Amino acid sequence: MAALKSSLTADLVSGATHVPSQFIRPEHDRPNFDQVIQSSDHSIPLIDLHGFDGSRRTEIIKQIGLACQDYGFFQVKNHGVKEAVIDNVMAVAKEFFHLPASERMKVYSEDPYKTVRLSTSFNVKAEDVPSWRDYLRLHCHPLEDYIHEWPSNPPSFREDVAEYCKKVRGLAVRLLEGVSESLGLDRDYISKALGKHGQHMAMNYYPPCPEPELTYGLPGHADPNVVTLLLQDDVGGLQVLKDGKWLAVKPIPHTFIVNLGDQMQALSNDRYKSILHRAVVNSDKERISIPTFYCPSYDAVIEPAPKLVDDDHPAQYRSFSYGEFYGNFWDKGLKNETCLGMFKTN
Ligand code: OGA
Ligand code: NI
Repeated sequence: MAALKSSLTADLVSGATHVPSQFIRPEHDRPNFDQVIQSSDHSIPLIDLHGFDGSRRTEIIKQIGLACQDYGFFQVKNHGVKEAVIDNVMAVAKEFFHLPASERMKVYSEDPYKTVRLSTSFNVKAEDVPSWRDYLRLHCHPLEDYIHEWPSNPPSFREDVAEYCKKVRGLAVRLLEGVSESLGLDRDYISKALGKHGQHMAMNYYPPCPEPELTYGLPGHADPNVVTLLLQDDVGGLQVLKDGKWLAVKPIPHTFIVNLGDQMQALSNDRYKSILHRAVVNSDKERISIPTFYCPSYDAVIEPAPKLVDDDHPAQYRSFSYGEFYGNFWDKGLKNETCLGMFKTN
């Protein structure tokens, strides 16, 4: 069999001294590094989860509520996921992306409904300018339905990633309970709204880029799911839109970055927003980030929580299935806006 030619960014740009023309963004759509706020004093809130299941619950829920309202983004420490579990998943992701192209390409696919696939950019069929990224995407819940499809090279991949997925799912469910309570809803309201629940993860690989001012790792977008728990390595590159300005989120080892997705905006009837964020690249170092996209199952019906709908706050969205939403999100390609507009009531 002829070897499959790699269409991955990493292979295409390896050794490049300039950004190949197809990756160059039009001038009005570039990172503009000099306008990005770098100061850690103005970064997204850092919430200490120590005592979340006991004495500090009320206080922490208040902090979560404020962070969700003001930023749609926060970081958490003392979250209960062991450092070794985090280190192992980062290490195995790096090993995967360092495998020979022929080995990585075995799982390449552009079909968004494949439950395991390696791809590049975002949706290569829908976008004008590709992004400087490769990604391995895995469905992770229920684990036993998917683990046998995952890569078995590197040899510890399944074990390391499975352990990570179980622990992150536990944290996601706890955080969703906190967010539910911060909205004045029953602790399990959001969990129940997600049907059978879904958990997908990506391992993002951003190769070093000779001219990072000309392109994006990922352009501005809102996540389509309910909540994302992002792990980033020590390189940095995530930026969050706050009051019209891009804030750089400096890496803090072993913390998770939590952001609300479009489903949370719909469920909360716009009390909380799904915030635009993006990833930039740099000329020195490759970067890995590992987002866990916690989501409804495709058949779950999403609508504003009745408790958050009244005369002053009419329902902002019609009911829709997550499957319908996700199809629209994917077909649109990443755009500088959420896809929620299509589901508005007015
Ligand atoms: C994503 C994302 C940001 C990052 O994968 O949806 O926003 O820093 N990633 O890689
Ligand atoms: Ni994102």
